[in-house]
Amino acid sequence: MKKMILLNPGPVCTSERVKNSLLKGDLCHRESEFSTILSNTRNKILQAFAPNKGYTTAIITGSGTASLEAGICSSVSEGRKILIINNGVYGERISRIASAYKINKVELKYDWLEQPDINQIEDAILQDTKIEVVAMVHHETTTGLLNPIHEVGAITKKHGKAFFLDSVSGLGGEEIDLVTDNVDICIGTANKCIQGLPGLSFVLLKQNEVQRLRSIPPRSLYLNVISQLDEQEQKGECPFTPSVHTFYAFEEALDELLEESVQGRLNRYKKASSYLRGQFKQLDLELLLPEEILSNTITALYLPRNMTYARLHDSLKERGFIIYAGQGELNKKIFRIANMGELTMDDLEAFIKNLHEVLSA
Ligand SMILES: Cc1ncc(COP(=O)(O)O)c(C=O)c1O
Repeated sequence: MKKMILLNPGPVCTSERVKNSLLKGDLCHRESEFSTILSNTRNKILQAFAPNKGYTTAIITGSGTASLEAGICSSVSEGRKILIINNGVYGERISRIASAYKINKVELKYDWLEQPDINQIEDAILQDTKIEVVAMVHHETTTGLLNPIHEVGAITKKHGKAFFLDSVSGLGGEEIDLVTDNVDICIGTANKCIQGLPGLSFVLLKQNEVQRLRSIPPRSLYLNVISQLDEQEQKGECPFTPSVHTFYAFEEALDELLEESVQGRLNRYKKASSYLRGQFKQLDLELLLPEEILSNTITALYLPRNMTYARLHDSLKERGFIIYAGQGELNKKIFRIANMGELTMDDLEAFIKNLHEVLSA
């Protein structure tokens, strides 16, 4: 297959090292060799994202939504509620998951182009004593908007609520400190800023949340955080057949991340997005959001006049670059450029050159 430069927010371009790890060989997931890989991979997730201890993690075979679903259906007690902060497609997804499991919810909906109002969140918590968990997306991939995790974490801590964070497109790309941001449950995936392959995701759980979650009767057999965690921690196994080869790639990708350092990865992404945003301005492309609230990895841009997304996408694809459409109401108005993954400055410069040619054709 022709090499494509992926400028979509996952699955991302990966290194040869990650791809080659798939060839390590066939392995039975009930053998000690797999237990070693599982344990190493879990430890490396913790080393990268919870270096100050106090957290544990369960890896789930399934995309980011699988761990999101596991986290939500495992963390709200019977008769209690989840407060959902919804300002994009993925906030909406949390809400849909809560509905699917018939979990009582309170929702604060915001425009997709705005950050949530901290005072409103606090008022909502104060108004309903049944709220047990507050859920928010870290980086709304819909628009590239960053949500105020530190402020929301401070409020949830103040009021004794669990803070549930979807950081599927945040971990490895954005500033986050689970401890000082008071995150109790955090969801991540292998194939965005961690630069692994699609098929594995994970739940990071504060140690002192384990007991609370253990008291909640399972709503799902497969997607239950406690049963996944117990099996992984106590037996060194996954309860169901894991995607063994994707684990090889995940461990390799975590090694690469730790070698680069999480801060080093963030800096690389920040440098890439600053370069791209500077170039977009020179091409007279208008950003959807002000730069102050943008992530390090996604830039959403209005489609130029007289250009459809399909034409822009197809012309760039012919030249080896994959861009990404807007979602929902933004579908006809915007396109998105992600700079996650194994991308060099040469790749980005080549993309800008091709974008310029396509736009001026
Ligand atoms: C913030 C966020 N949450 C959840 C998901 C869902 O992940 P997946 O598509 O891997 O199920 C995505 C995917 O883009 C995402 O960006």
